[in-house]
Parts: sequence; C-alpha cells; structure tokens
Amino acid sequence: MSISKSMLDLANDAAFGKSAKARRSRYALAYHIAAPSGWLNDPNGLVRFGGRYHVFYQHHPFSAQWGPMYWGHASSADLAHWRHEPVALAPDQPYEKGCFSGSAVDDQGVLTLIYTAHDDDSPVKETQCIARSFDGGQTFVKSPLNPVIGAYPAECSSDFRDPKVWRQDGRWHMVVGSRHGGRGCALLYSGDDLEHWEYRGILCEGDGTLGDMWECPNYCRVDGQDLLIVSPMNMPGHKNIALFGAFDAAAGRMALDHWQELDLGDDFYAAQIMEDEGRMLLIGWMDMWGRAHPTEEDGWAGALTLPRELHVRNGRLIQLPAPELKALRGEKAVDSDAGERAASGRCLEIRVGGMDGCLVLADADGMMMEIRLNQEGVSFTLAGGRTVAAPLSPEAPRELIVFIDRCSVECFAGGGEVCFTERLYAKELRIDTFLRGAGRMEAWTLNPAFEEASC
Ligand code: FRU
Repeated sequence: MSISKSMLDLANDAAFGKSAKARRSRYALAYHIAAPSGWLNDPNGLVRFGGRYHVFYQHHPFSAQWGPMYWGHASSADLAHWRHEPVALAPDQPYEKGCFSGSAVDDQGVLTLIYTAHDDDSPVKETQCIARSFDGGQTFVKSPLNPVIGAYPAECSSDFRDPKVWRQDGRWHMVVGSRHGGRGCALLYSGDDLEHWEYRGILCEGDGTLGDMWECPNYCRVDGQDLLIVSPMNMPGHKNIALFGAFDAAAGRMALDHWQELDLGDDFYAAQIMEDEGRMLLIGWMDMWGRAHPTEEDGWAGALTLPRELHVRNGRLIQLPAPELKALRGEKAVDSDAGERAASGRCLEIRVGGMDGCLVLADADGMMMEIRLNQEGVSFTLAGGRTVAAPLSPEAPRELIVFIDRCSVECFAGGGEVCFTERLYAKELRIDTFLRGAGRMEAWTLNPAFEEASC
C-alpha cells in the first residue's frame, strides 16, 4: 500500500533535504535566520510562547525563488541561538494557493497563527485564516471555520492581507493592510475570539504621499507613543516606515502625526514587531523585492534581520540590537582608542564610541562601504558611490554599532537613531574593517547561532 505524502511532508523533505549544501555554501549566514534551504521573505508570527521565542517566515522550500508560500519556523530560548522547526503551514486547502504573511498569539495556552490565504485564481482573492497548534508549535491545524474573514470591505481594494493581531482591553484586535482610493491604509477588526471578527473601519490611511497599498501593518505602543509600522508599496525612496499618531481604541481610529523610515539601507522590508514582557522587539526581512540574490546558485535566498529593541525618544524611533545578542560573542579582537584600529573576519560585532571619523569596510576589490559619523550626523557610502546621509540629534551618542555576518551588514548609528541594513557579497568572503579619525573601537568575533553553521 502506498501512502502519499502531504504537502507539508514534501516541503520538509525539500527544505531539510538540501540544507547541508545551502548552509555550508560560501555566503551561508552564521547567526541570522535563513531557511534551511530555499527562499525566505517576510518575518511572520513573532511570538514568545512556552518559554521560547518563535519566528515564522514566508518560505518557498522547493527553490531559491519566491513561489507558492509556506510558513517556515525557527525557535530560540534566548533570542540569540536558534533551531529550525518543521515547516508550519502549507497551502493545502481549497481556499488558498499560498499562505501569506500574518502573526501569532498565545490564545489561552494555544499557539495560534493568523495568516492571509492567497488565491491566485482570477480575480485574486485574499482572506484571513487561522491555524492552531496543540503540540507546542510542532504541527498546526487549520480552523474548520476558515476563512474567518472571507471578504474584504467594499470601501477597499481586493489587496487585503498580512493580519497582525494583539490583545487589548479584553478583546482581540487585528490590523490588515489594504488600499483605499489609491492610498495605502490599515483596516481594523475586533473580536471576542479569533474566529469571529467585527469590521471597525479604516484605522488610518496615507495622505497620498505614503504609497498606494500598505503591506504588513503592525500597531504597537512604545514608551507611551502609538506607532503604526507599515511597508508601503510605491512610495518612491521609502520602504518601511513608522507612523507616529494617537490610537483611539473606542473609536477605532488613529490620527497620524509624523513618520520615520525604519532603515536607510537597501535590504530591509516587511518588519514585524513582537511584544516581549513589556518591551517591544522588531525583526525585518533582510532583503527586498527586486534585489539580486547571488546565493540562489547555492540553493537559498533571503534572511531575517537581528532582533531590535524599540524605544521612542523625543519623537524619534530608536532601534538597537537586542542585548541578548552578546551571547554570540567569541574572542575580543580589538579594543583600542588610538593608532591602528582594524578587524577582519566574516562574523563580527564592531562598536565605535566617541566617533568622529569613518569606518571603512573593504574586500579584495577595495571599498565596499564607508560609514562616516560626526557632530552633524551619519552617512553611508556604497561601492558604486551612492551615499545616504541623515542628521543625528545633538543629544544622540556619537556611537556606531555594526554587525557583519558573511554577506550582510547591519548598522546602528547615534544610539539607534539611524539604521542601515545592506547585503554585501565580499570577493574573498572576508570583510576588512578599519577606523579613520577619532573613536574607540571594540570588535568581537561572533559564534554561529545554529548548530550546523560554522564561522
Ligand atoms: C510583503 C508581502 C506581503 C505578502 C507576502 C507574500 O513582502 O508582499 O504583503 O503577504 O509578501 O509572500
């Protein structure tokens, strides 16, 4: 008797069957989350559950290109060391051709995923669905009541995706990304349980300059400030923004004030937040639509950023790498405030304090990136000559934190006021860094976060 394999079994066979090759390949990341093999885009379902951090992600296990979407899964006890978990969701129901982005909650001890079922048939249909795990996150069962929101509101377009759910005042609330009259908007739903939702209306929408569709909306409150973090489509020069405003839960409206780009680099999108016992963390996709992926030939593409801790100071969003990442530190390679301050490697954490100068990142072909930081602000120059500059507030520390992981660089400048994330593919697979000007440079080599990776 032959037993046919489920879509999930086939996905696990594909993702894990080719993982040794992908993870041992030249650019394989050592301490960032990437799929075991295959494609990864948005972070999904960030949640702390059962004493572990769970991170899911948009995943195509069968190739290093985007395709019908599955949910991959990794978990961690300490936010620094991770292990791969079985693929969580496959598009295996009649109402879906892809399991698009969404979130996760702890529903009275049951890990529950809320996602968009995407159906490519003409016309494209996007509905909201849920799946529950009764074994602590190893397997998920889709609700027989799916889709739990089966139609988009008449006032919006059929782009209706990326539900982010949170609990407030004894009820569940959900924001969903959409488009209203050619402007990006976030829709609000509320419910007493995760299967029955009441449409509350448009929570807020752009003014015409903030893109024409908002993907991956997140509502959160950080240091007393209401924020809506969205990934606007077609907002020239901008990808992922935090909108500052005032959320009126009773009215179901958010009045917007100003906004800030989350990250000035080329490889940051679709960020999702996770509340963690009073603090707010954020993880983004460390890549972007339309970018080249030199890792494709090694059987993988896409990764997630490091977890960042969020704060708001003087009307600005501050993002800093989570302190737990110190657990990855190995040998201290540099600790000097004068003379030659240089470090080479593939997996490094660099911190420069009291900086007035330039940190250069180079490979065998020469300069890959320069980061200038002084009294005025910070600027990032890439090998092609393109420069992105941003002012820093006078009170911001003249400090730079840089994480290098084989083919990625994440920079946090001015105590986290400005971030810059970029994928850099070094010629000899090693990045040389050196500081010119004033500043005390400290550098550590970093250890792998996954058992099978090695630096
Ligand atoms: C954002 C996004 C989401 C969608 C997902 C599909 O990058 O386009 O809106 O749910 O990716 O993979």
